[in-house]
Amino acid sequence: MDYSKLKQIAAERAVEEIKDGMIVGLGTGSTAKFATIKIAKKIKEGHLKNIYGIPTSKKTEELAAELGIPLLSLNQLFNQQPRTKNNEPRTKNQEQRTKNNEQFNIIDITIDGADEVDSELNLIKGGGGALLREKVIAQNTKRLLIVVDKTKISEKLGTNFFVPIEVLQFALESEINFLESLGAKTKIRKTETDELFITDEGNFIIDAYFGKIDNPAELSSLLNERAGVVEHGIFLNKLVDSVYYSSDNGVEIFRVS
Ligand code: A5P
Repeated sequence: MDYSKLKQIAAERAVEEIKDGMIVGLGTGSTAKFATIKIAKKIKEGHLKNIYGIPTSKKTEELAAELGIPLLSLNQLFNQQPRTKNNEPRTKNQEQRTKNNEQFNIIDITIDGADEVDSELNLIKGGGGALLREKVIAQNTKRLLIVVDKTKISEKLGTNFFVPIEVLQFALESEINFLESLGAKTKIRKTETDELFITDEGNFIIDAYFGKIDNPAELSSLLNERAGVVEHGIFLNKLVDSVYYSSDNGVEIFRVS
């Protein structure tokens, strides 16, 4: 089966988890696109009702709007309180929020792709340049469903993919210096027309080649501590609910325990 078909199968399987009344994060990239298309189709055919989508990039926003998915921005979602679920108003009342993050998070399900998934279900994301908004949406999501084909799995992150790192334009050269001091080889992300790639938030991306990453959590904290690094593409498994992995044998679902 070709890779595009495998991506579609994984994405459409994850869409089955979406129920009427849900707020759904819409991922970015060629795999997540299949999910967005399927969601739009189900809404149009009346198989999904009262759905609002929250896009993870301008590109996804354009696609979803074109397909007629009702959209809200993250700010609207938090400000325009009267979304309902099972006919009960969502509450903004702090006292009624539980300590459980899953309850606290406002987006029911997000379906997104990944560039690499390791054996513990940590991810590298950002091949499409949307890692910052993707991570913001992920951290506000109860269940992040990652949809990938068989090429995305490795024992350790960094085996097949670099770590995309979004940096302030102002700090570009200093961040290259910092990443190289950590042992990475670096490449500034460019567009197909050889211009500097600029993210939805107006930043640059450095693609950092660390080789196999033994301790993604440690690298993630080092990057988190660095001023000038706006965000990075390591998504630790605590953000993830499940990975939908498709191969010629069908879709397998791996849940983060
Ligand atoms: C977008 O910034 C990325 O995080 C994508 O989710 C990731 O690159 C996977 O993309 P594909 O589904 O196109 O491989």
